[in-house]
Amino acid sequence: MEKTFLMVKPDGVQRNLIGEIVSRFEKKGFTLAAAKLMNVSRELAEKHYAEHKERPFFGELVDFITSGPVFAMVWEGNNVISTARGMMGKTNPADAAPGTIRGDFATSVGMNIIHGSDSPESAEREIALWFNDNEVVSYEKTI
Ligand code: CMP
Repeated sequence: MEKTFLMVKPDGVQRNLIGEIVSRFEKKGFTLAAAKLMNVSRELAEKHYAEHKERPFFGELVDFITSGPVFAMVWEGNNVISTARGMMGKTNPADAAPGTIRGDFATSVGMNIIHGSDSPESAEREIALWFNDNEVVSYEKTI
């Protein structure tokens, strides 16, 4: 089954949106496979956002993601990578449709509440970066 890495960023944690966000993915029918509230080291942030290293906002991005705890998650389900991206909305909340997470809760491209893997390759890389194998749970639903 496909897996993706999702992270509630420091703004989403501090605005008490963890429950709202988890609830949306649960109600959609996806399965939570791993989750942890954690502070992010600069080393991890720089590795996570390595593809943006040359962008002018890279320093700001790393400062922000290390500024307070994040809620890191792995979710599992059919087409979860692209469906979760759709549920998150466009990166810039100004372009994100109402009904999406960013469309409903964010106004700034820097503080846009949530990160989600953008491809199967990114999902594999990000899950391995943020979680040890024994933190990712796989189970059959019995009820
Ligand atoms: P995310 O999906 O976490 O991946 C890269 C992040 O860079 C993106 O969400 C935005 O939060 C952030 N980002 C993109 N453009 C800008 C910008 N112009 N200024 C600050 N942050 C940005």
